[in-house]
Amino acid sequence: MIILGIESSCDETGIAIVRDGTEILSNVISSQVELHARYGGIIPELASRQHLLSIGPVFRQACTEAKISPSEIDLIAATTGPGLAGALIIGTNFAKGLSLGLEIPFLSINHMEGHIYAAWLQKSAGPDKEFGFPIVCLLASGGHTELILMSDHGSYTRLGETRDDAAGEAFDKGARVLGLGFPGGPAIQNEATKAPNPERLPRAWLGDSFEFSFSGVKTAVLRRAQELGIDKSSNQESVDTSVFSETRANLAAGLQDSIVDVLVKKTISAAVHYKAKCIIIGGGVAANSHLREEIVKVSPVPIVAPIPSLCTDNGAMIAGAAFFSHGTQADSFNADAIPNLRL
Ligand code: KG4
Ligand code: ZN
Repeated sequence: MIILGIESSCDETGIAIVRDGTEILSNVISSQVELHARYGGIIPELASRQHLLSIGPVFRQACTEAKISPSEIDLIAATTGPGLAGALIIGTNFAKGLSLGLEIPFLSINHMEGHIYAAWLQKSAGPDKEFGFPIVCLLASGGHTELILMSDHGSYTRLGETRDDAAGEAFDKGARVLGLGFPGGPAIQNEATKAPNPERLPRAWLGDSFEFSFSGVKTAVLRRAQELGIDKSSNQESVDTSVFSETRANLAAGLQDSIVDVLVKKTISAAVHYKAKCIIIGGGVAANSHLREEIVKVSPVPIVAPIPSLCTDNGAMIAGAAFFSHGTQADSFNADAIPNLRL
């Protein structure tokens, strides 16, 4: 089954063609990072306008690279939420237009479900066949951080989520304070490698719960940067990543250690508690090399981590999720774009 997957929930216009939910024939991504970098964060209005400009060329490129003509596509899937309203509407309407014009069914997909199914896009049997259910999924992105228990395809129980900021948001805000630019995750990861003596920053454990909170560590970075006289949060013009500062690197590493420590310990304890057969990590933060190394070190069950470029937003994961849910979901042509859609 050949599925076209469209992702436009945030700042990447991604369109992919995937066979049977596992084999990527093309996966084209037009990133808006440079457009938003000068503002230190995503500007929703600019994101929508750029999706509108990019989506046609990205679609044509995805077909060309896959050597597939639009008439060979069996199903068109798009992210309809969660995400930025204007951005979601562009991808959803483009998909519906294609669906009408080509007379191919349309399926609405939850972006977080897409992050889970990125784990099936690799050359293996897939986590279900290799290890079985239940699976604990750690989903950590710029807008969400949640632990999901997956007991079968399409069957999800939320074990916990962040009560305030997402992990990715803490990386992004920390990088802004330290003048490391946007997006913050990769910048903090890179800066942390140079730290001779990482700072110890707080962790919010919230008892034994599977809930998260990252607002405290975000504030701790700001306070510490102010004390040390290296706070750049109000002056993004002065971003200069070429100047090395031990203090800045130590703070970046401290932030990364704090976020990773909490993500890893809570995910492992959920996996043990629910007797998970494996753990899937997904979402942009799952691209973090420190997180990937630490969780493998301590996990009693196998870790399935998509390659970093499939952890961040892309159309292939949407096509993958559509393959595994198309049998259980009717044509969703009337689906609306829902910014706060829940899994
Ligand atoms: O899933 P994603 O691409 O978009 C959303 O759905 O939000 O995640 C983006 C987030 C950003 O906050 C970004 O800083 C973070 O993922 N991120 C990382 C890394 N790469 C991206 N965080 C930590 N380490 C990374 N290597
Ligand atoms: Zn995402």
